[in-house]
Amino acid sequence: MRLNIRKFIFAIGIFVVLWLIISYSSIFVPEDKSKNSASRMEVELDKLQNKMRDQLSDSYKLLEKVKSRLKKTEEKSIEDIARESFKAENDIDMALDGSIVLPILVIACDRVTVKRCLDNLVKFRPDKDTFPIIVSQDCGHNETYKVIRSFTDADPSITVVQQPELSEIPLPRAKVKFKGYYKIARHYRFALNHVLVGLEYDAVIIVEDDLDISPDFFEYFLGTYPLLYKDPSIWCISAWNDNGKKELIDLSRPELLHRTDFFPGLGWLLKRDTWLQLEPKWPEAFFDDWLRDPQNTQGRACIRPEISRTYSFGKIGVSKGLFFDMHLRYMQLNMEFVGFTKLNLTYLLKDNYDSSYTELVASLPETSPEEVMAGASTESALRVSYSSAKTYRKAAKKLGLMDDFRSGIPRTAYRGIVTCFIRNRRVYLAPNYEWTKYDPSWG
Ligand code: UD1
Ligand code: MN
Repeated sequence: MRLNIRKFIFAIGIFVVLWLIISYSSIFVPEDKSKNSASRMEVELDKLQNKMRDQLSDSYKLLEKVKSRLKKTEEKSIEDIARESFKAENDIDMALDGSIVLPILVIACDRVTVKRCLDNLVKFRPDKDTFPIIVSQDCGHNETYKVIRSFTDADPSITVVQQPELSEIPLPRAKVKFKGYYKIARHYRFALNHVLVGLEYDAVIIVEDDLDISPDFFEYFLGTYPLLYKDPSIWCISAWNDNGKKELIDLSRPELLHRTDFFPGLGWLLKRDTWLQLEPKWPEAFFDDWLRDPQNTQGRACIRPEISRTYSFGKIGVSKGLFFDMHLRYMQLNMEFVGFTKLNLTYLLKDNYDSSYTELVASLPETSPEEVMAGASTESALRVSYSSAKTYRKAAKKLGLMDDFRSGIPRTAYRGIVTCFIRNRRVYLAPNYEWTKYDPSWG
């Protein structure tokens, strides 16, 4: 009996040990698995956290740079100004002797057709060192990113940066339809800070992903860039003529350039110091119209060509296809190469331009839009007058010009005058009163 009890206790002991082993291993094995996946997850989370921390610190660094640059601009002493104007002279020389660097910033989002834009930039680019290409991609669209990467992988002078802030922008219901314009403005701020503050370039040429360029696009900017240093009343150079349809331009004058008070955009050059003035007030949306308000650009002008050096093929975009079908589709892209760096462009400087311009226009014979369209006049240049927003609109419509205003400025206007070329004659649509400023209530 005692033996049996001992056997029994022994058997119970074995059973308990076995039970412990089995239950321990059944607890332990899945626990080990879950431990493994938990630790893997921890590693991933760590990585993600590090990545976010890096991005955040990059953003802070950029912000600090912008702030310190701004502070420097505010604290400018006479010596600083003198040094800068000396540097400006140097920059002009550099622009002329070919040691200047003008990066091309391509603004991309989710259109794989960015390939068409990049193909042309690569095709017409005369020199990789002078014109490095930086693509800034918004929207996190992978297919588009792959297309961009196919260029950056093949050529180290082409690089890509991704706009890190992809969160939705909270908007009141009435503004939701403008969401695209908010995202574009946010992207521009990031991209311009990246190139002009982060990478510290002196200037940048901005190209949107749906633009074709002319064969002399690079030469155009290289030749006109010194004007920004010679004439502080010019803040931008644009490749675009808002009235650039072939019925409205002089196709025999591809070298002809103009001053304009209306920011044209669509392929444009901006200097860093101007960006640093704009950046702190940069708008949340509609940045292009914001740049058309003289209050934001201190009433300064842009240079624009008679014949556009860009063409927009972006029918599908934020502002939809109607504008494209009505207007953009008919724009003329210049195809003839003009050696702008070898031309004398001093006629565009304010001191040379303004007085002769207004004098010339005032001296011309006056005519009506109907007579211009009939093409009967024997004169080579004519003036059509307007006296109000209404009469401006009416005349512009008859001549086939854009008839809209931004901040009271008609498209392509300079000091209230819009010039075009119709039926072999130069035409000036000009105020019939002494012009002093634009009236923001027009439009
Ligand atoms: C129009 C103007 C464009 C201007 C824009 C902002 C014309 C022909 N086009 O845009 O020059 O910049 O208004 O007021 O007048 N993009 C982003 N993030 C987005 C969406 C778009 O970065 O979420 C980029 C696009 O890649 C493109 C640019 O913004 O480079 C303009 O977008 P697009 O869709 O072409 O709009 P448009 O209607 O042409
Ligand atoms: Mn577009």
